[in-house]
Amino acid sequence: MCGITAYCGNDLALPFLLQGLNKLEYRGYDSAGVTLLEDDGLVTVKCRGRLKNLEEKLSDYTLKGHIGIGHTRWATHGVPSNLNSHPHSNDDETISLVHNGIIENYRELKEELLEKGYHFQSETDSEVVVLLLDYYYDGDLFAATKKVLSRIEGSYALCIVSTFEPDKIIVARKDSPLVVGKVSNAYVAASDIPALLEYTKDVYFLNDYEMAVLEKDNIHFYSHDGKPIEKDMNTIPYDIEAAKKDGYEHFMLKEIYEQPRVINETLRGRIVNDKIILDELKDIDFSQFNKVYYVACGTAYHASLCGSQVLERVTKLPVIATVASEFRYNDPIVDEHTLAIFVSQSGETADTLAALRLAKAKGATTIAIANVLGSTISRDAHYVLYTCAGPEIAVASTKAYTTQLVLLILLAYYVAQKLNIEVNLQLIHELDTIPDYVNQLLADHDIYASWAKMLENLHDTYFIGRSLDYASVLEGALKLKEVSYVHADAYVAGELKHGPIALIEPGSVVIAVATQPHIAAKTISNIQETIARGARVILLTTEGQEVKNVENTYYLPKVSPTLQSILVAIPLQLLAYYTACIKGCDVDKPRNLAKSVTVE
Ligand code: G6P
Repeated sequence: MCGITAYCGNDLALPFLLQGLNKLEYRGYDSAGVTLLEDDGLVTVKCRGRLKNLEEKLSDYTLKGHIGIGHTRWATHGVPSNLNSHPHSNDDETISLVHNGIIENYRELKEELLEKGYHFQSETDSEVVVLLLDYYYDGDLFAATKKVLSRIEGSYALCIVSTFEPDKIIVARKDSPLVVGKVSNAYVAASDIPALLEYTKDVYFLNDYEMAVLEKDNIHFYSHDGKPIEKDMNTIPYDIEAAKKDGYEHFMLKEIYEQPRVINETLRGRIVNDKIILDELKDIDFSQFNKVYYVACGTAYHASLCGSQVLERVTKLPVIATVASEFRYNDPIVDEHTLAIFVSQSGETADTLAALRLAKAKGATTIAIANVLGSTISRDAHYVLYTCAGPEIAVASTKAYTTQLVLLILLAYYVAQKLNIEVNLQLIHELDTIPDYVNQLLADHDIYASWAKMLENLHDTYFIGRSLDYASVLEGALKLKEVSYVHADAYVAGELKHGPIALIEPGSVVIAVATQPHIAAKTISNIQETIARGARVILLTTEGQEVKNVENTYYLPKVSPTLQSILVAIPLQLLAYYTACIKGCDVDKPRNLAKSVTVE
């Protein structure tokens, strides 16, 4: 989703703005632009397409401003075009702004402005904000901003510059992320931490309805009613190296290879003498709950499907795993006896955040499983557990998924312990061995690359699995379609004969996962049914399973069945990666997708 950068300081603003936008590319975008406050006024340069198009356009300018704002746009209102790109300015170019989010009442505001004689250059909802600022400006930019914020509905992260008050940038947020950083010679702002890391690790997180005024050597924060407030500075625990490619061809590959380390990080200090330690949750009385919801989107939902099954098995509490966009509109039955767990890498996904707020309003106790420190979901939930995956840049989630699985398994066993339920200690011991097994699986990359050749010219593939393996194939299919654009559907293997088998014909490829001992043999017989109809099969199973006549069988190391979900993710991620590479796809930035979906 849109990325924002802002610089107010003593050095040139443009290098910061561009490097920041570059670091935010992973969020997904279709156009880019900047506004610089130059000696002779505001200069805005913007265009459709990639950042390199903007950089080419910028080579015709010499921009020396020390104050500026930048934006990468992911179209919501109006097609990707030069005119719809941000920043947007008023007619006489005295005020310019960038906006991330959606102004829900923009139509009525636009009508109102048209009646007042304003005209619009773009089809965007954002342009109403700058024209409203123009309308309300009466010698005090902060007062005008406050007035505008009281008129707009929806979500926003805003950065505003003006020639009227050429020493400052005003920023504001509601339901869209915005982080402010302190640099030696400046104050800066951005949608996400990676944009700041090259310059600073000292940041302030804005809450909804808060505003800040950035000056060269000063920053002031304000509450929704414009009253000055104090905010604490946070120090980010990782540095810029964590957000670089480290010689890997793509972030996705780098992040796949980071998994042994980040799984270790996520486990660190959380298992002591056979006990799971999640001190962040020590105040929760788990005996008060009669139901547990897991709510998430995309990959995080697949991790939730797995985590919820594990919790149900070990605690016997009824669980429901659901996607956030359904939960929020389906009037879920939630009360003070409900535990609701929200899983989100970014901690900013609009649907997950709305679902969290709904669950809180209905009286649930909420836990966030997040990866980004200080993210909105992590701050809004009653309790938070962090995965330690570090910054995930590739749009397709890999290391966030496996660390979510690890943390959700730990959580399930933690709850069981707190409820005095006897748990499988072998599994707890085995968790520590998972990073080594992941390394072992990574070493077989050539095998997965050879499977990718089977998919290169296919239009469709079919993934099948049962029980926990079903969550794994859902994620495997999602990964493949996201990055390689090969259509991939995942089915519960037992449902094959109720429809999907009609699609199988000579040359179809079926990817099967059969790692759960109580049900693996059933999946393996489903495979035979597809082979009989001409399918070529890739089977991921565990040592000891009896398999006959399957062309490509890969044996995963044998660990407790629950932990297989973590291991099986590795070949499936690499299969998707290599298929995308063979097909020449933009692996890290797949078309139409955004890393962080901050609008509904
Ligand atoms: C987007 C991303 C997915 C991600 C999903 C949920 O669709 O492209 O990779 O799984 O959002 O994101 P979250 O940050 O909430 O985990």
